[in-house]
Amino acid sequence: MKAAVYEKYGPPEVVSIKEVDTPSPKPDEVLLKVHASTVNRTDAGFRSAIYFVSRFFSGLYRPKRQILGCDFAGVIEEVGNNVHDLKIGDKIFGFNDQHFGGHAEYMTVSKYDAIALKPNSASYAEAAALSEGAHYALCDIRAAKVKAGQDVMVYGASGAIGSAAVQLLKSMGTHVTAVANSKNIELIKSIGADQVIDYETQDFTATTKRFDFIFDAVGKSSFSQCKPLLKQKGIYVSTELGKNLENIWLSMLLSLSKGRRVIFPIPSTKKEDLEYLAQLFEQGKFKPVIDRSYPLDDIVEAYRYVESGQKTGNVVLDIQ
Ligand SMILES: NC(=O)c1ccc[n+]([C@@H]2O[C@H](COP(=O)([O-])OP(=O)(O)OC[C@H]3O[C@@H](n4cnc5c(N)ncnc54)[C@H](OP(=O)(O)O)[C@@H]3O)[C@@H](O)[C@H]2O)c1
Repeated sequence: MKAAVYEKYGPPEVVSIKEVDTPSPKPDEVLLKVHASTVNRTDAGFRSAIYFVSRFFSGLYRPKRQILGCDFAGVIEEVGNNVHDLKIGDKIFGFNDQHFGGHAEYMTVSKYDAIALKPNSASYAEAAALSEGAHYALCDIRAAKVKAGQDVMVYGASGAIGSAAVQLLKSMGTHVTAVANSKNIELIKSIGADQVIDYETQDFTATTKRFDFIFDAVGKSSFSQCKPLLKQKGIYVSTELGKNLENIWLSMLLSLSKGRRVIFPIPSTKKEDLEYLAQLFEQGKFKPVIDRSYPLDDIVEAYRYVESGQKTGNVVLDIQ
């Protein structure tokens, strides 16, 4: 089968398209013919190993698993002996940031992995783009215990995480103020934001509104900048560690505070979370934003674009 393989950590050019053996499913696994995947910041982070800590999971000197792609959607072609609730021909999607494998024509998926049936109305591209951004957003929103009726801000609403966060927060009945650039204002309104602040022409910290939850989905703000915008018990969360890892220290220091706090949850995704996202898709409450698609052969180009920090929503990889 054809796969995008990386044998060492580094820039997008360490990835190349190769012929490799098609994997065989173990008794607890299925063989998936991958139709679509995404190229995202999680794949890019593990490939570059820019944060050394990722090597503790992926291999200290070189990657143990050489095919990335944490998002995937496709059709089951073989079923292991111990798999009883999935069958050949089932269309599924999933997320796996431990074994990865979606950047290939075939991959094996364990019955215990975070997978769910593809929503009937979703294309493979949409199904592949349902998870990566949304799983970070869902994890942070849940950790902040956001409730219906609350005022929330999503800073960096045009990324994969931000555009998912806007829709998830709206589906929960919150009032969403989004911060994005001029070119994305209409898009962000179309996915449900009640108010959009254009960061190119306005200073978002000048707003007179106060928030129960501020979600920085691009890691470009700081707690000190956002603290005055938080209500008395407001919560700040960022997708980045912050200057000198401040978001980690602050989350520990302020953990017992009865006032404004920083939280830094560790994301994890279960089957039920993907079923929840599929359900929201079917209900028309969450549709992943897709910026553009690349064929598998152009994966290096796709990585370059993703790492420009300019993508809007998700970048899809067309495998079949
Ligand atoms: N290390 C990891 O494993 C990992 C995994 C996932 C995510 N992350 C982090 O999570 C963050 C979000 O990732 P993502 O995939 O959702 O999106 P992304 O690729 O980082 O895209 C960011 C979006 O935010 C906008 N943006 C850039 N600068 C901005 C600013 N100053 N204010 C407001 N918007 C701004 C960009 O559009 P414009 O520039 O056109 O405004 C773009 O649409 C990133 O910081 C990423 O590093 C890290």
